[in-house]
Amino acid sequence: MHSNTSYHLAGPFRELVTMQALPLKGALKDSALRVIRNGGILWKAGRIEAVDDFETLAVKPGVISMDQPVKGVVLPGFTDMHTHIAFGGSRAADFALRNGGSTYLEIAESGGGIWSTVKATRALTIDALAALTAQRANTLLRQGITTIEVKSGYGLNVAEELKCLRAIDKARRMTKADLVSTCLAAHMLPADFNGSAEAYLELMVNALLPVIKNERLAHRVDAFVERTAFSAEQILPYFKKVKAMGFDITVHADQFTTSGSEVAVAVGAKSADHLEHSTGKEIALLAHSDVAAVALPGASIGLGCPFAPARKLLDAGCSLAIATDWNPGSAPMGNLMLQASVLATFEKLTNAELLAGITCRAAAALGFKDRGVLAPGYCADFVVYDAASYQEIPYHQGSLQPVEVWKNGTRLTF
Ligand code: NIG
Ligand code: FE
Repeated sequence: MHSNTSYHLAGPFRELVTMQALPLKGALKDSALRVIRNGGILWKAGRIEAVDDFETLAVKPGVISMDQPVKGVVLPGFTDMHTHIAFGGSRAADFALRNGGSTYLEIAESGGGIWSTVKATRALTIDALAALTAQRANTLLRQGITTIEVKSGYGLNVAEELKCLRAIDKARRMTKADLVSTCLAAHMLPADFNGSAEAYLELMVNALLPVIKNERLAHRVDAFVERTAFSAEQILPYFKKVKAMGFDITVHADQFTTSGSEVAVAVGAKSADHLEHSTGKEIALLAHSDVAAVALPGASIGLGCPFAPARKLLDAGCSLAIATDWNPGSAPMGNLMLQASVLATFEKLTNAELLAGITCRAAAALGFKDRGVLAPGYCADFVVYDAASYQEIPYHQGSLQPVEVWKNGTRLTF
């Protein structure tokens, strides 16, 4: 055993991209990136003590050098801040229908879509759902994603939403990634609910959210503001009550029709996600707020829809995070680097903007202050690529995989 005074040191790395001291909002030039050549990371008990030139760190007293077979490029562990990986079944049939000309909203209105996944998810035991969730979390972890947000939203009644959130909680013990749960009971009005949208939301406030709070199953609440889900008028009073209960808020906004981001700004949400149909008005609203803008290119690719106006959002001064939205309906792929790189190509994002969107800005949008950056005090979560420079990573559009993933100072084996 090592004494308390010993430190672990990884390196030397060809390039260490720290993501340190970057502004949370607005456009970023690649020259703003702090890149340390022949860098090292020093940590103790899973927390970074220093990030510096390797040789400088190696001579500190009490340092234990880690075996470092690959001298490649290091980035902070990624954060996928928007996923729906707690689901059962498949929507391959929806995918085929859409590619045959039906739209997402048409399929939803004819009783398919989210509702078909609700039926498949309700049919699973909690253990089966936990196993599927953990398996998908581990697929993301292998890509270097050390923090993963996971939404409920395929239960859609009190008992089944609790099952989803408790399954996510169980999955936590089956993966080394950190899972952040979000309650998405307001994903749509379930077809078997005997009452109005208002009555359903009221039931969630009275019978579901207090249990979630008591059991600490989630501290975030999401809603889908859309024609086939809930209107702004229905969601605003819900969010006000949810916020008064102490939950953070996040919104599925402007995916097909606008209004969600207006709600997000009105209630002081942490983020407005999707934004594929945001116009100048919504962009300006978000830019003048503290609501993070979240692009979900996997949903654009999955549906064949436009990308969120990421360039315009950044130029207007927004904080932009990028996430997979991994779900069986609109975004079945679950490959963050591929999606972020494709978004960057179409929306003309710098590497700094792309990388910030899946590291420091994504972590900040979830409320974390201890990850997404390689600097003293932060978690020793990092990924190593066998590459000549960090530019190779987005350039390969997801086909370059990390060779090592470290969580809290431990190298993971897969
Ligand atoms: O983020 N937009 C709403 N929710 C998901 C899709 C869920 C589904 O179709 O199952 C999304 O795209
Ligand atoms: Fe989503």
